[in-house]
Amino acid sequence: MAAPLRIVAVANQKGGVGKTTTSVNLATALAACGRKVLLIDFDPQGNASTGLGIVDRKFNSYRLVTSGCSAREAVQSTLVPRLDIIPAVVDLSAAEVELTDMERREYQLADGISGICSEYQYVIIDCPPSLGMLTVNSLTAATSVLVPLQCEFYALEGLTQLMHTIEAVRAGLNPHLLMQGIVLTMYDTRNRLSSMVANDVRGHLGHLVYDTVIPRNVRVSEAPSFGQPVLMYDLKCPGSQAYAALAAEVLTQERHAA
Ligand SMILES: Nc1ncnc2c1ncn2[C@@H]1O[C@H](COP(=O)(O)OP(=O)(O)OP(=O)(O)O)[C@@H](O)[C@H]1O
Ligand SMILES: [Mg+2]
Repeated sequence: MAAPLRIVAVANQKGGVGKTTTSVNLATALAACGRKVLLIDFDPQGNASTGLGIVDRKFNSYRLVTSGCSAREAVQSTLVPRLDIIPAVVDLSAAEVELTDMERREYQLADGISGICSEYQYVIIDCPPSLGMLTVNSLTAATSVLVPLQCEFYALEGLTQLMHTIEAVRAGLNPHLLMQGIVLTMYDTRNRLSSMVANDVRGHLGHLVYDTVIPRNVRVSEAPSFGQPVLMYDLKCPGSQAYAALAAEVLTQERHAA
């Protein structure tokens, strides 16, 4: 039997914590495990699209949510087998305002992709670093939220606000929204602070935190400039191995939920 569809919003309003890196590489690792995956770049910065070397962005997530094109038009394949993408352009920042005046404003992404979701087992949404309309649309469309947390001093700051937003979406817009998990990113083994933060986060939220920790690894930060996921750029590096392990944990969750 085919695995049920999971729509995972990768969200944290804090900037630069590893949302895009996690979206691109988890999507790639799941595709490598045989899943059909759609990555939606839902950040006006368009980093996920750049990280996958996507040049043609005529049809994009901005046009999708402002009724300028269909999901089928917006989807394109990537260099990764079984991984498709809906790219983003900077115009998407205008959607934060434009969506506000629309009917069913929180459902524009959910409605936009509803016709094509059945073709995938995973849809991964790379959210922008804010809790505005774009992130609310992502959480409304999603079946679960995955939160990357950077192993630094203020890691837990802002998490409360994110949890409130998730609760608010659950209360009104999407009652079935689950917590997929928290993944610790940019872990530096040489830095005592990293292990202190990791222990602190596990102490508070242990049941939600993945065993896999993503290490700080220069190969991870180099890969996007070659338009490749790190799993293609250097499969053997610690960052790639960690994202493969994270995907294995996600697939284990899938089996337990079945
Ligand atoms: N494990 C890692 N090792 C080294 N560098 C990393 C790692 N993960 C992410 N980076 C780098 O850190 C920066 C921020 O990562 P990323 O773009 O994934 O964060 P983000 O949360 O999506 O940022 P934004 O909030 O701006 O969208 C990038 O330059 C990325 O290449
Ligand atoms: Mg990003």
